[in-house]
Amino acid sequence: MDPSIPKRINELRQGLHRHNYRYYVLDDPEISDAEYDRMMQELIELEARHPELSSPDSPSLRVGAPPVEKFETIEHSLPMLSLENGFNDDDIMEFDRRIKKILNVEGEIIYTAEPKLDGVAVELVYENSRLVAAATRGDGFSGELITPNVRTIQAVPLMLHNTKENKAPLLLEVRGEVYIAKDAFKRLNEERLEENLPPFANPRNAAAGSLRQLDSKVTAKRPLEIFVYGVGQVTDLTLASHWDVLLALRDLGFKINPLIRPKITIREVIECYKDLSEKRHFLPYDIDGMVVKVDRSDYQQRLGATSRSPRWAIAYKFKAIQETTRVVNIDVQVGRTGTLTPVAHLDPIKIGGVTVSRATLHNEDEIKRKDIRIGDTVLVQRAGDVIPEVVKVITSKRKGEEKTFNMPRSCPVCKSSVVRSENESAIRCVNTSCPAQVKERIKHFASKGAFDIDGLGDKLIDQLVEKKLLHSYADIFRLNEDVLKDLERMGSKSAANIVQAVERSKAIPLNRFIYALGIRHVGEHVAGILAKTFKSFENLKTAKPEKLETVHEIGPAVAQSIADFFGQHENQEIVEDMMDGGIRILEVPDRKQNMLSGKTFVLTGALETMTRDEAKKRIDALGGTVSGAVSRNTDYLVVGASPGSKLKKAEELGVEIIDENKLKGLMGDG
Ligand code: IVH
Repeated sequence: MDPSIPKRINELRQGLHRHNYRYYVLDDPEISDAEYDRMMQELIELEARHPELSSPDSPSLRVGAPPVEKFETIEHSLPMLSLENGFNDDDIMEFDRRIKKILNVEGEIIYTAEPKLDGVAVELVYENSRLVAAATRGDGFSGELITPNVRTIQAVPLMLHNTKENKAPLLLEVRGEVYIAKDAFKRLNEERLEENLPPFANPRNAAAGSLRQLDSKVTAKRPLEIFVYGVGQVTDLTLASHWDVLLALRDLGFKINPLIRPKITIREVIECYKDLSEKRHFLPYDIDGMVVKVDRSDYQQRLGATSRSPRWAIAYKFKAIQETTRVVNIDVQVGRTGTLTPVAHLDPIKIGGVTVSRATLHNEDEIKRKDIRIGDTVLVQRAGDVIPEVVKVITSKRKGEEKTFNMPRSCPVCKSSVVRSENESAIRCVNTSCPAQVKERIKHFASKGAFDIDGLGDKLIDQLVEKKLLHSYADIFRLNEDVLKDLERMGSKSAANIVQAVERSKAIPLNRFIYALGIRHVGEHVAGILAKTFKSFENLKTAKPEKLETVHEIGPAVAQSIADFFGQHENQEIVEDMMDGGIRILEVPDRKQNMLSGKTFVLTGALETMTRDEAKKRIDALGGTVSGAVSRNTDYLVVGASPGSKLKKAEELGVEIIDENKLKGLMGDG
């Protein structure tokens, strides 16, 4: 075999491990996604042609392994304990007093405080730097062996990073929490509802369900993430504090939570708790408290553990996000795609500091599955920015007067007929001109992640649609002050402001434009992927479903929905109409965008594969500057055939002289 092949495979594996780490752990990629995909593709092809060079550590093997019949159990070498809970400041002060007493210390004890992630605890076992096993916590003594599933989590290193200062230990057991972020959870549930599968109750259940798939290919499709927070058994790694352990784990390639507060006093712990309980609703993932840990390793040793939990740590729990209340009534809302969503009206109740008076019931099947009736006492959950939902009925509170609810047989807004397609749990109003649909579509179109039109809020849109002043997106761009100023709660000043905001919104980045169109299955995330992949609206519009499906994270249902959308004559007209309104779609800034930033070029002579003008445009687009004359500030002189006097000048000044090929290399064409 050509000796360059194993060398290249090795190079690609190392490179991909590194780029994976930069992307998923450090959130600081060095190369474009396209380049990453190219490297992965090359590796997959080389490995397919040379199966003898396969390796279980290859980054190409994160996609899942053959299904298993059942999980084996594995004993943890050190038990995975739980944590004692504290519910108020007194409990925490008491914890601090107890520590001081046992240690016989008078001065301050130093703690490290971490968000308590609401996910699933796992243990990752590394031998000689390689991930050899991963297990759930189970009963604390033994858990289930879920190695192939955990390997699909991109932020789990398959190999430890061996930095120079940080020789990897022979055995290292790392403990952490696997979770699903809130927005990914929302998407996952939307997809499940579309596919007629029961939604997960919360992100934790979704993470647990995903980790316990017998077929790891299913797990690979789930958006699992991980933060690590400690170690089990470790050889040759003695560190003086918990914070040092976390830093060492970070150096070895693991992701640690960015909100950890190292080395603080008990007073600061309490401050930090207040801060975190306010922040929690805005975090991208669920946390249910704060874990307070004695920082010094020797203190931890001396404190030891009870049979259930370590004495050196406590979980300071947040106030519940679930409360019980009564369903006063159920009504039905019509969404922008015509979906009829039943909504429970509740006796108002404060949950986590916010008053909740409505909760989504998702669809007919969910109401039946949970057997929710009008008058029922229910457990309601508010998880961050997710719409509050009914978790379950407290059946013991039933009096027999509760009324069952049936979905209407026609649209509650426009009275058109409704359909329930096969394999779908959603009932839809078929009338695309239904005022409810129009209102919701326009609200979506004007919303923050889309056209972001200041002042064009829900109430105003309701009014404009009811007064028949808005029928389609393009009508927004035709609004003028005369029409607006006569509306309720509107003066000429606000009318002028809105017209201005509409004008400003006309220049829109491609990803937001795609999102604004309200294509089924295309949320902000998918719109971002599409913009990055297709680069221009024209490319996306004409893409075939087969092409769309090849895009990472885009499945067949999404691909079909996009192709269907652009295939419809009506939608083509809507888009054209908008373009006539003066919309300008801005290309999405690529990471490449600033490749040449700060660099000044001068061009001389005829180039072979592009005109000087084209070269100038491309250099501009990549953040560089093209100037007409060579000076000390020139970084490069690009020389084509029959150069002029600029060449001599550049030589005199010692400016770097390059040819067309080198220029292309700098532009990332190579
Ligand atoms: S330390 C020996 N730190 O909470 C103590 N646990 O009730 C080990 N958890 O099963 C736990 N975030 O799944 C620790 N930053 C964190 C955590 C955390 C979440 C979970 C963990 C554990 C449970 C204990």
